[in-house]
Amino acid sequence: MSFDAEERLLESLGPRVAVSDEPVVKFEHVTKTYKLYKNDRSRFLGLFSRNNKELVGIVHANNDLSFEIKKGEAVALIGRNGAGKSTALKMVTGVSYPTTGTVTVNGRVSALLELNAGFDGQLTGRENLSLRSQVLGMSKKEYQEIEERAIDFAELGLYIDQPMKSYSSGMKARLGFAFAASIDPDILVVDEALSVGDKEFRKKCINRMREIMSNENVTVLFVTHESAAAQEFCTRGIVLSEGTKVFDGPIDDAVEYYEGPAD
Ligand SMILES: Nc1ncnc2c1ncn2[C@@H]1O[C@H](COP(=O)(O)OP(=O)(O)OP(=O)(O)O)[C@@H](O)[C@H]1O
Ligand SMILES: [Mg+2]
Repeated sequence: MSFDAEERLLESLGPRVAVSDEPVVKFEHVTKTYKLYKNDRSRFLGLFSRNNKELVGIVHANNDLSFEIKKGEAVALIGRNGAGKSTALKMVTGVSYPTTGTVTVNGRVSALLELNAGFDGQLTGRENLSLRSQVLGMSKKEYQEIEERAIDFAELGLYIDQPMKSYSSGMKARLGFAFAASIDPDILVVDEALSVGDKEFRKKCINRMREIMSNENVTVLFVTHESAAAQEFCTRGIVLSEGTKVFDGPIDDAVEYYEGPAD
């Protein structure tokens, strides 16, 4: 995503601070381990074998990671490729679980990540929206309230009632964003997900994000490689390296820690 002047996130918003001491996201000694196998066959055999001879490697995507985020804070996760940022976000959204340690999340999460993932190609767009709301634990009534909003936002026309296997990847991402943007979340999780669809749609997405984030009760967790964007609307930065927290503090200090002192 480019952060040129026109698309600058949150340009109209001032810095955000925590509105209460209540932690809404808490990581306690979280380690997430992935086992790497030579191929699918050895992955399958690895399930049944006691010795680890099928294993070619182990990755600690998150390693003894602990932090707390309070209600209303806007926090950037910063780090190089493979540092463990997306791994941590996936545990906040509940699509993945820690190998050891605990992740506690209090509140409804809206996630702007992997927007075109997790849909069932056999079901229509509308059916997938309904399914997603059930997975999130929304009541029927709550879903009815947001269904039309999401469908309008996605602008898929007649395709909304076609099986999703007939969608382009941009169309899937539009529906993913439309759903995430239609619920009023307590926690907004964004993983550089904004490069969705064409220019026009992207603008709409960014405006909607601004709107969600302008609510000071919403807690934001944001992953980006654009330091300027992180500084623009996060007050705090957590720097990860090889799955471990190496810095946690004011955003400007976090960026300086990560990038080295400005020239
Ligand atoms: N499903 C998986 N299976 C095996 N390894 C994985 C899996 N998901 C992530 N990893 C590994 O875990 C580590 C952390 O990955 P992660 O995606 O969290 O990094 P990231 O900080 O989001 O990087 P990027 O900036 O490139 O998005 C990497 O070494 C990655 O290869
Ligand atoms: Mg990532």
